[in-house]
Amino acid sequence: MLISLVGYMGSGKTSVASILSEKLQCKWLDLDHEIENFEKIKISEIFKQKGEIYFRKLENQLLEKLLQSPEPMILSLGGGAPMFYNNMELLLERSESFYLFASPAELAKRLAKGKEQRPLIQHLSDDELPEFIAKHLFERNPKYQMAKYTINTQGLSPEQVADEIIQKL
Ligand code: S3P
Repeated sequence: MLISLVGYMGSGKTSVASILSEKLQCKWLDLDHEIENFEKIKISEIFKQKGEIYFRKLENQLLEKLLQSPEPMILSLGGGAPMFYNNMELLLERSESFYLFASPAELAKRLAKGKEQRPLIQHLSDDELPEFIAKHLFERNPKYQMAKYTINTQGLSPEQVADEIIQKL
């Protein structure tokens, strides 16, 4: 079985996937890490050197390939992957999908640190983050909500989120 985690930047996909992988003794792949391994440079550099469209095409291709895998695994997706992926039906069919929800205020708090690594928000000041995220999340929510389950991560540690996911499996 495949388990996919979707959600906005800072929603905890990577931390939760890593914990899930230990708890379930299951392989874990992170789509952003796969892209970085493939290109041999960081995501922020891919955006800078080759542009977002190049990144999205690669993201699409690698996701499509990973979803064909017969091997059980946990798959954490980058925050924008569901927006640009043109085969959401396959993702929903091939995986138990989870949307990790957090409010814009909470996400802004979490994202204030480490913004430099995230090309879509690195130009924003901490004061601009909450409004940007609120609008962006509003646009993205319909796609995230296509996931089979939504987990409200507000006030939960990544370990508690992982436990909620396990309960639903
Ligand atoms: C993006 C999210 C990032 C990464 C890229 C674009 C987005 O992944 O894929 O910077 O469009 O939301 P995380 O959600 O893991 O930060």
